[in-house]
Order: sequence, then C-alpha cells, then structure tokens
Amino acid sequence: MFVTSVTVRVPAKINLQLAVGPLRRDGYHGLVTVFHAVSLFDDVTVAPAAADSVTVTGEGAGSVPAGPDNLALRAVRALRVAVAERGGDAGNGGVAVAISKRIPVAGGMAGGSADAAAALVACDELWCTGLTQQELCTVGAEVGSDVPFAVLGGTAVGRGRGEQLAPALASPVSFHWVLAFADGHLPTPTVFRTLDKLRAGQQVPEPELSNELMAALRAGAVDDLGAALSNDLQEPALSLFPALRKTLDAGLEAGARGALVSGSGPTCYFLARDARHATDLAVALSGAGVCRSVATAAGPAPGASVVAG
Ligand code: C5P
Repeated sequence: MFVTSVTVRVPAKINLQLAVGPLRRDGYHGLVTVFHAVSLFDDVTVAPAAADSVTVTGEGAGSVPAGPDNLALRAVRALRVAVAERGGDAGNGGVAVAISKRIPVAGGMAGGSADAAAALVACDELWCTGLTQQELCTVGAEVGSDVPFAVLGGTAVGRGRGEQLAPALASPVSFHWVLAFADGHLPTPTVFRTLDKLRAGQQVPEPELSNELMAALRAGAVDDLGAALSNDLQEPALSLFPALRKTLDAGLEAGARGALVSGSGPTCYFLARDARHATDLAVALSGAGVCRSVATAAGPAPGASVVAG
C-alpha cells in the first residue's frame, strides 16, 4: 500500500530523579536519571515532499526554530544517513514535517527531543526502513540526549548523558501528576552552567541511582515516591527563576505528595494521590496565580507511537 503520510504521537517526560555528576570533557555531564513519560503529547506528521520543511502549530509554536536547526528535521537527516549506510532507501525527495505542540517549548519536559523522536518513528514507518527500536534510539542519541527515551517511553533509568537506557521495574499502577507551566523559558545549557558555578570549588561525586525511589516505583507507593523525588538542576533553576519557589510551595500547601522542578525547568510538577486529587490540585494551583497554566497528566505513558498512516 502507498502511504501518503504518517502521524506519530509522542509523550513529554519528567525526571523523577536527576542526579548530575561532574562536567565531562565533551561538555556534557554524566547523569543518573529516572525518566517517566506522562500523558501530555505532541503529534508529528510526516509526508513525502520535494524538499525537507517543518511547520509548527500550537503551544509556543513561535519559539520553535522552523529551519534546518529544528530537532525534528535534524532527526530526519540523521535517519536518512543511517538508512543509506545500511543500504536502504529513504526516498529521493524530502519530507514535510508538521508538528502540533502541547508540550511546552524549553520547559524542561524534552519537547524538542520528543518531536525528534516522533519524526524518527514516523519516517521509519514512511520509508519502511526495518530498523529496530534500539537502532532508532542510537540514531536519536546523535540528535539529543533525551531523544532515545521519547522513543521508548514508560519509566526508564538513563545513564551516560541520559541516552543509555534501561527500563525501570515499576508496579503496573498509574501515577497522577499536575504540571504547572511557567511564563518564561530556561535554556538547558544555561541551567547546567549555573549548576557548575554553584558547585565551583566542590568535589562533585559520581551520581548514584536512588534505591528509595526505585523501591517506591516497584511498590506503587505514592507517598514514598513523593518523598524520594530529587533533581540536582532544581537549585540552579530556582536561582535563575526565583518565582518557581512560590509555585512549588503553593502545590505542597494544597496537599501535593511531592513537588519538583521538571528537568532544567521552568515547568514544575506535583504528585497527586489519585486522578481526583490531581484535579483538585490543578484547580488550587490555577487559583493561586503562581503559573501561566496547569494540566493534569498520568504516567507512565507509552513512547512515540504511530497513530495514523
Ligand atoms: O543533548 P542535548 O543537545 O539535548 O543537550 C543540550 C545541552 O544540555 C548540552 O549542550 C549541554 O549543555 C547540556 N547537557 C549536559 N549534560 C547532559 C545533557 C545535556 O550538560 N547530560
């Protein structure tokens, strides 16, 4: 059958743990992180075209690069090279990529990486490349450290710069989250640089996986999970964006079981007891006027998946 377009739905991520080690020689930091995909999705549609192009609509569309630097287009080019190296056929022309965004841009939820992962999975389907998920992840890692996780989804432990993944053993229960989107952006490299400045003169230990967090995930224990959430990028994010402290406090005062800056921020997330509690928390946060908007989401969510094509 001749496929004219493929649409892939891809989740945002939060980091339940983000332990950052010393700065490496290649400019990245060694990490141990626990990625968790949540039900806030971008949709990415690819279709054959004369040349590569990208259009972006929805949440924060104006701030997404629409030229060759766009991460989804970089993913398309990386996959084309990988397919050619394996003697496959990625078509003669280009690809038109249409991104419909709900994941905030530069919000600490890996929205750009999610779009890159979706573009990989969509072009893989369009070109019938036959690459394995592991091979797609390897191509994705060239584009960004968080891209492989957006391909995989679920809950996973990330090491290296975040691209080396192992699925986490977790109980089959869903967790319920509230996301508070901020009025502003925090570029990831700036947050990592600020962490390095805050740590100047200190001996930075190698990061380690939290046993408490992994036990809480295995048991599906909400209160233990809330107590074990941690993020080394929270302090630098708060120093760059002090208003986030009020957001975190407002969620805790409203009864959240845990509250954390998501990745490099400025999105904050809150753990609720159940779906109903998540709605109550969302209403309270919205009423407190401590963020631009709120959303509820459940996790773990599946990774980038074809929804039409
Ligand atoms: O891999 P990605 O391009 O998404 O990373 C964006 C930036 O975040 C890097 O250029 C680097 O400044 C910082 N980073 C880091 N250590 C990591 C991941 C990202 O310092 N493990």
